[in-house]
Parts: sequence; structure tokens; C-alpha cells
Amino acid sequence: MKVFVTGGTGYIGSHTVVELLNEGHEVVIADNLSNSSASAVDRIEEITGKSVRFYKADVCDKAALRRIFEENEIDLVIHFAGLKAVGESVKIPVKYYRNNIDSTLSLLETMEEKGVNKIIFSSSATVYGDPASLPVKEDFPLSATNPYGATKLFIERILKDAAAANKDLSVVILRYFNPVGAHASGLIGEDPVGIPNNLAPFIARVASGDLPCVNVFGSDYPTKDGTGVRDYIHVVDLAKGHVASLKKLSEAGVHIYNLGTGVGYSVLEVIRSFEKACGKKLPVVMAPRRAGDVAAVYASAEKAKKELGWEAKLGLDEMCESLWNFRVKNAK
Ligand code: NAD
Ligand code: WQD
Repeated sequence: MKVFVTGGTGYIGSHTVVELLNEGHEVVIADNLSNSSASAVDRIEEITGKSVRFYKADVCDKAALRRIFEENEIDLVIHFAGLKAVGESVKIPVKYYRNNIDSTLSLLETMEEKGVNKIIFSSSATVYGDPASLPVKEDFPLSATNPYGATKLFIERILKDAAAANKDLSVVILRYFNPVGAHASGLIGEDPVGIPNNLAPFIARVASGDLPCVNVFGSDYPTKDGTGVRDYIHVVDLAKGHVASLKKLSEAGVHIYNLGTGVGYSVLEVIRSFEKACGKKLPVVMAPRRAGDVAAVYASAEKAKKELGWEAKLGLDEMCESLWNFRVKNAK
């Protein structure tokens, strides 16, 4: 298949491109490089020994999209491109709505014009809001607690409406839990600009000596050790989940899957695992709860296992080891 990957130089996109190439697919990437670097293309090619066609393009730009579809016989689209920082989305909501929703609309319009009927979309566990029970299943009620989450919810709705109106359209919505880790080569991984918002990249910066201590946001939650519990998933497992979901694109309609492990780990468990990976004790400070956080979220991973034949294979230690390996190899 020839796969058009938007946001393909980003964290999850680049890992997915590697898995697609490993499975023999051809890949065309479009990314505006707002949160990634074109060097990811060289690194993907180094890992796989295969070449990728890259366009520096904004997915909101329909003229650019038309050109890409005209120059390549695209079979399907995987749409990763988007802005993703929850806190930032509260500060600049209009930019989040414009970028995330506009890019999806431009893409859907161009796909319709060019007769491409298959799309996989990067959604998020954030669409479950504060779930009433655990593990979280795909048919749970949806809600948004911040503008970023609202963009995911609206895009899911847009895709569902588009599929209801076009009986040839096939949509796969993948709701990721908390991706962590990097490719075993250490060549691609997550490298946020500035102070990281997410736990694992923050811990990695403490381990490398760039930040003084890990702040644990809340130690009085009703969880195993009082700290927040999440479903961390290795980014390589997540990438393979995309490849497994390709088979659903031969059935029209909307197919929704959680991509998680089904296991919840606490903040303290993640810190301990990272300490093993980097071989040193990390300074930890108990801090107040972070606004908007919930005590615990983890997936039911059953539907993806049953219908896609996919399940996560790598554990928390492998996530932390690979993240540390990436950090060491890419020290600035
Ligand atoms: P990322 O920022 O590393 O990758 C997103 C890529 O999209 C970046 O390379 C960025 O330059 C590009 N981009 C943004 N807007 C664009 C536009 N208008 N045109 C072209 N390129 C554009 O983020 P990621 O972690 O790889 O996330 C990929 C997708 O998965 C996003 O849609 C994100 O919301 C979703 N997601 C991420 C997480 C997570 O924790 N990382 C969890 C759930 C869902
Ligand atoms: C994990 C746990 C924190 C940082 C976010 C988005 C979600 C998805 C993934 C995109 C929580 C605690 C964190 C720190 C800490 N992204 N923590 N100290 O909030 O589960 O999910 O990223 O779709 O939409 O909301 O991830 O990594 O920020 O936090 O104690 O310095 O670590 O309180 O319990 P979160 P996270």
C-alpha cells in the first residue's frame, strides 16, 4: 500500500513510518515541522534502509495536499498531524481549533476530490474525560476537559458524520493512552522543546541533570500508592497497532480502538523503573495535584486484541530503558 502519513516526522508518526516500511508499505510524509525536524526522515531511512518521500507542507493547505495526492497514488491516509499540548491548548485555544480541525477538514475534502476512502486518525484517551469506571472501554461516554481534548472529540464526530454520509469511506479511530519510549536504535524518539509537560520526558531530563527534581503531582489519590495511575504504552507497540489496524480499512464504516496495555502504573512506579534504566537514584519532590488530572486511567485492550490481533508486548522497564538510550545518544 502507498500510505500518506501526516505528521510523519513527529514522535508517534516517525515510529509508525518505520513499522510501515518494515512491513513493505511505501510512505509519503507531509509535515510542517512545527514540532519536529526533517532529520527524522534521514533517521527513518537509516533504520529501515528504505526511502521515504517527504513534503514540508501544512496539512491545512489544500493546494499543497492536492499536489501531494496528484504526485503520488495514495491508497490510505494516517493523520497524526496536530498540536498536542493540553496546557498550551488552554492558553491558545483558537490556534488549536484552527490547526487540528482545519487540517482534518482539508484532508477529508482532498481525499474526497481524489477518491481516497481510507483514513486512520490519532485520537486520545483524553476523550474519555474522567471515566466512571475502569478499565476504559471504547463505548464509554465521551467528554472534553480542555481545548485539545475538544479538538479530538470534534474530529471524531466529523469522521463519524463523513462515514455516515459516504458509504465507501472507511475510518479507523485509534485512542492512544500514554506513549513512552523510543526506537531501539536510539535514532528516533520524543524530544520536546522546553520543559516537558509529560511525566516520562520530564524524568529523563532530571536523569540527564538538566532539571533538578521530579515533581510528583499528588500523593493522596485513591490509588495503590497515592500517586496518579496511567496506562503507559511503548511507542513501538503503538506504532505496530497502526499497522495491525490497516486490515480494518477494507471494511467501510467507523472502527474505534483503544491502544493501551490494559495495565496501570503509578507515578512512583515509573520513577523507580526509570531509576533502574539510568542506574541512579533521582531526586523526587511530592507536590500538589495538577489541575485537571484524574486519579487513574487505563484501557481495556480487549477489542484491539480480538479484532486486530494486536496487543502490546513491551513493559514499563523497556519503555524507560529505550527512552534513556535515546536521551543518552541525543544529549545536547
Ligand atoms: P508530535 O508533535 O511529535 O507530532 C505531530 C506532528 O505534526 C509534528 O511533527 C508537527 O510538526 C506536525 N504538525 C502539526 N500541525 C501540522 C500541520 N498543520 N501540518 C503539518 N504538520 C503538522 O506529536 P505526537 O506525540 O507524535 O502525536 C501525534 C498525534 O497523536 C497527534 O495528533 C496527537 O494529538 C496524538 N496523540 C498523542 C499522544 C501523546 O501523548 N504523544 C497521545 C494521544 C494522542
Ligand atoms: C502522567 C501522570 C501526572 C508530570 C497527557 C494528556 C493526554 C495524552 C497523554 C495526548 C499524571 C503525573 C506528570 C510530572 C507528575 N496526550 N506527573 N509529574 O496527563 O496522563 O496525559 O498526555 O493526547 O491527552 O492529557 O500524562 O505524562 O502529563 O502525566 O507527577 O512532572 O504523571 O499527574 O498522574 P497525562 P502526563
